Amino acid sequence: MSEKTRVSHLLQCRAEDRKIVMVTAYDQPTGRLADEAGVDAILVGDSLGNAVLGFDDTIPVTMTHMLHHTAAVRRGVQRALLIADMPFMTYKISPEQGLDNAARFIQEAGAEAVKIEGGQEMAATAKRIVDAGIPVLGHLGLTPQSVHALSGLRMQGRDEQAARRMADDALALQNAGCFAVVLECIPWDLARRITESLAIPTIGIGAGIHCTGQVLVLSDLIGLTPGPVPRFVKQYAHVGASIKRAIRAYAREVREGQYPDKEHAYRAPKED
Ligand code: KIV
Repeated sequence: MSEKTRVSHLLQCRAEDRKIVMVTAYDQPTGRLADEAGVDAILVGDSLGNAVLGFDDTIPVTMTHMLHHTAAVRRGVQRALLIADMPFMTYKISPEQGLDNAARFIQEAGAEAVKIEGGQEMAATAKRIVDAGIPVLGHLGLTPQSVHALSGLRMQGRDEQAARRMADDALALQNAGCFAVVLECIPWDLARRITESLAIPTIGIGAGIHCTGQVLVLSDLIGLTPGPVPRFVKQYAHVGASIKRAIRAYAREVREGQYPDKEHAYRAPKED
């Protein structure tokens, strides 16, 4: 096994201009596969809500869901940095609330860092958590927990005023002690501008090539998401189609009496 990835490794990547690879995972098998594939960091995203639990968005995802799935991923991950996403309204009420819930991810589920959505208005919360010894990953741009306030999930930072505000948000998160910032669904030139202004890494998703690293939702990346995926997603496999093909073949063989054949059945041991 190569060396355990820690927050310091990601900061070193930023300092040395090396790319960071992050992907989401939601259970022990996906955590194990991502870890074995050699990613730097694994995010148990609250995209769990859409990707695994069948919700329309991330709003219904709770601490109970996230703790359960983070603990499962933990059991599959040995090397990559494991980050847990704090779900809707579990850190926005006060810095103390944020710290209490962040601590649960570390203590009860084995996460090594937490992610929170929001900019300057979340800086005090990020600082409170960081000061207590828990690494925090920020998240700007399209922040899915604010789907209603943003009037839908669409590209952010479209005009200069919004771009300036986001750049200030990123600096505020850096000053609060965040070890990196996710930039989701923003123009690539804004992502470059923010990346160049920070000493900490940026992790892009739909934010172009100039970010320090990239993150994708695993189900999008492997082709498990039904229906169309966002423009920025590249599908590196079509696992959904493979699974359906396998189940159809199994169903056909059972119905036609071909499965289980002798090769897949037990024989009583021979008596002497
Ligand atoms: O929930 C999630 O998977 C995320 C990533 C898309 C960054 O927040």
